[in-house]
Amino acid sequence: MDSSSQNTIAAEWDEDVLVPVERLSVGLVVDSDLYADNQKLISKGTVLSQSIISNLTRRSIEHLKVRKGSSLSRLALLPESAEDRFAALLVDTGRIFEKHNLEMVIPQEKLESASHQIETFFCDLELGQSVDLARMRGTVDGLIREFTKNPSGAVKLLDLEHFDRYTYRHSINVGLLYLLNVADWVDDENELAEMVYGAVMHDIGKSRVDLAILNKPGPLDREEWEIMKMHPVWSSELLEDTAISDTGMRIARAHHEKLDGSGYPDGRNASEIDRFVRLSTICDVYDAITTKRSYKNKMNFAKAIEIIIQGCGPQFDPKIANMFIRKVGQYPIGTFVRLSDGRVGVVTSVNESAITRPVVSIVLDRQLQETDIPEELDLSQTPGVRIVGVVAGRSEETADRPRR
Ligand SMILES: [Fe+2]
Ligand SMILES: [Fe+2]
Repeated sequence: MDSSSQNTIAAEWDEDVLVPVERLSVGLVVDSDLYADNQKLISKGTVLSQSIISNLTRRSIEHLKVRKGSSLSRLALLPESAEDRFAALLVDTGRIFEKHNLEMVIPQEKLESASHQIETFFCDLELGQSVDLARMRGTVDGLIREFTKNPSGAVKLLDLEHFDRYTYRHSINVGLLYLLNVADWVDDENELAEMVYGAVMHDIGKSRVDLAILNKPGPLDREEWEIMKMHPVWSSELLEDTAISDTGMRIARAHHEKLDGSGYPDGRNASEIDRFVRLSTICDVYDAITTKRSYKNKMNFAKAIEIIIQGCGPQFDPKIANMFIRKVGQYPIGTFVRLSDGRVGVVTSVNESAITRPVVSIVLDRQLQETDIPEELDLSQTPGVRIVGVVAGRSEETADRPRR
């Protein structure tokens, strides 16, 4: 897709808010409640999944009102002349984030020391050496305390280079995503810390899985898969002797269970999976998809959201998935986006009530030259300007083209 056809599609969507059902796509946001036979079928704000679209088709619904420009995975290509300049920005995101006030909410020394301790813990664990769970608990609690002051700051840590090895990066990311979402449900700080601890330690049982299986590049054979499926059991066993709450334990044991009963290790059905576990499953999947390609700009975030939406119903709880998407945003913090006025900005905060319209700080001006002084733009207050798409390098466009 070139940038001109991209713009044509965007323009079409803007005029055509009442969309024929056959043109709906996964990820569009419903703009008003839909009723059929005096029953509410879809609520305003729902993010469309494939099963919802199929349901509308089955019921012979012809049109649906969707939010302007709300398609999930739009990609905006820059003109060739600006590509090198943008590529240089992508390898220097530390400088850009600092310039645009995307600084860490945790003091650098604290973060580095916590990062070092967590890395050592997971390294020792992988090597089968004895580990100090109590010390780890203290480190994680310290991080959680910093983040509970400002949960949205947790997202700023995601995808940054502080946690560069998969095992512990994934553990911390899942903990942070969990905290960001669960903070609204739980007032008690200790309870919150217990849950986030469970989310951080959810995969600790992988330390008992042979490294050859863990790091196998291709698909696992039947026997290897059976071993892999044991890791949640081992996680709960390893945590059993620590002072962890029941919810923390359930997260460790059940984070791969699915609502339709097809998950593992216990094949629990929906009634046996509480909302705290349901949330951990979504955080886990989201991070597993995004971390693999963390060196890229954020098209993979859109992909992860799309996969979660598609799994709503059989795998994931739609209500919790919706909450998660609102919190993380369609364009998460740190995403580079092209605006309809030609400029490029970096997302600096998410508007929960308008996930397609975050606050951005302008990085490249209309001539696609780097701005000297950052200008912040709240797109929810700027109806004349909208996001055309996520800006990505050319290699990413060919490697991971989003589905429309
Ligand atoms: Fe797991
Ligand atoms: Fe995991």
